[in-house]
Amino acid sequence: MSIITLGIESSCDETACAVIEDGRIVRSSIIASQADLHSQYGGVVPELASRMHVEAIVPCIREAMKQADVDYPQIDAVCVTKGPGLVGALLVGVSAAKALAEVKKIPLVGVNHMAGHIAANYLTDTSWEPPFLCLVVSGGHSEILLVKDYSDMEYICATRDDAAGEAFDKIARVIGLGYPGGPKLDKASQTGDPKAFSFPAPKISDSLDFSFSGIKTAALNTINQVRLKGEEVDVNDFAASYQDAICSILCDRLLQAVKKTKMKKICLAGGVSANSCLRKKITDMAEKYHLQVCLPKMAYCTDNAAMIASAGYYDYVAGIRDGLDMNAYPSLEM
Ligand code: KG4
Ligand code: ZN
Repeated sequence: MSIITLGIESSCDETACAVIEDGRIVRSSIIASQADLHSQYGGVVPELASRMHVEAIVPCIREAMKQADVDYPQIDAVCVTKGPGLVGALLVGVSAAKALAEVKKIPLVGVNHMAGHIAANYLTDTSWEPPFLCLVVSGGHSEILLVKDYSDMEYICATRDDAAGEAFDKIARVIGLGYPGGPKLDKASQTGDPKAFSFPAPKISDSLDFSFSGIKTAALNTINQVRLKGEEVDVNDFAASYQDAICSILCDRLLQAVKKTKMKKICLAGGVSANSCLRKKITDMAEKYHLQVCLPKMAYCTDNAAMIASAGYYDYVAGIRDGLDMNAYPSLEM
């Protein structure tokens, strides 16, 4: 008999619900994006995000159940993102999940959003299993994790300042690409010259940690110097060069982590894993060093509930449960 999990995600600006079979097969995945609303403000407005989640959550759950053609007695666990994320946004998903769990008498599993991103790989390659190294890069996170088992992970390194997604979003805004910056910067880069501008590599030598504040400041200084001369940077060239510099840092660190751990399997997770330059560099690296690689399907790179239902499935089969006293945890660690 297969195990069916219902996933609910509302940590930032996407209300999402999905139904997954045995942690790997996506029966439905519904995403109500708020990107158009927040783009008017140049970034996510937390209070607006919470209100939109309240409006979208019930229709999202109903649609996911309908498309998967399941009813509540068939659901083995309700899996919900309990953190990290925006507290008001998280609380909407957590409250909906707790209500369902209580009324329908279904076990409740609170899921770490970042563990969810890692599970996007299980939905992409159904034979992908731990142990592996995962480069996790999103709007709020940049880290390399050694995934020893489905619910057992160890930090290899993390960012000391900004996340990669944050570094993309900030510079995209400054060069006029708007929100959400990462995908727009990626698109502009397609016709730009990655060698047009150069940026300094971070000088951390005592660990594998990332740092993006230096490169971000260097990019801002370059833009300001050009503007002081009454000129403008070529947006496509600047985007391509900046993107290339950040992706090179990410790849370099992942390669060092491979050497340190002797792990031969690598994958990506988080919104920035959708980046075309990063995907190309990681693919080339895997080929050069004979590594097994998994790149999450584009549909599962950015926030979705299928990944939450998958990560929740593995916690559920490991016997992990949450009670109705579960809260939303905005700074939840792995
Ligand atoms: O994982 P995610 O959807 O939300 C968080 O958990 O943060 O990641 C969002 C981040 C944003 O910073 C966004 O700009 C970035 O992922 N992103 C990209 C691309 N698509 C999304 N960054 C670079 N290139 C992309 N194609
Ligand atoms: Zn995310």
